[in-house]
Amino acid sequence: MNPPHTVILDDPPGTGWKVERLVLAAKKARENASVPLSRFRVGAAVLTRNGRIFEGCNTESLIPVLGVCAERNAINHALIHGEKAFLAVAVASDLHSPLLPCGTCLQYIQEFARQDGRDVLIIAEGRSGDRLVTSLDELFKGGFPPETSVKEIQESFRWTAE
Ligand code: THU
Repeated sequence: MNPPHTVILDDPPGTGWKVERLVLAAKKARENASVPLSRFRVGAAVLTRNGRIFEGCNTESLIPVLGVCAERNAINHALIHGEKAFLAVAVASDLHSPLLPCGTCLQYIQEFARQDGRDVLIIAEGRSGDRLVTSLDELFKGGFPPETSVKEIQESFRWTAE
């Protein structure tokens, strides 16, 4: 039987059985979290449009602002390998219940996600095994859309140079 609060959705087209592998990759990456400050471990994995999986864990520094969330490290890992568009993101944290990506990570996911207008599946699994399946469209209504031009961004930051 499914644990309570678990939402079952069909895998979106093109992801197939990879969602299970994605969650496993996130859980495995969680083991390598480098968390001297919070001791709170998070693992994430992204499924690229080309069907490849890249994982990340959260990394913290003794200088707190240098910390990076697991989701953004997973995306950066994919970018380093030339993958720039994602179908799905899985997150597995130390929390009992599923932890969804924070707002800054949602913005980052959005920047690489919707290049062909498709939504991004977001899967979060807690220590209890409870799984929440949702999507970027569902969670994030704001921020800079990926089609924002460099000019627009520069305009919005012009005050910093004045
Ligand atoms: N963290 C993530 O890696 N992902 C999230 O979605 C939320 C929080 C990390 C950041 C920090 O290293 C630790 O969890 C505590 O906030």
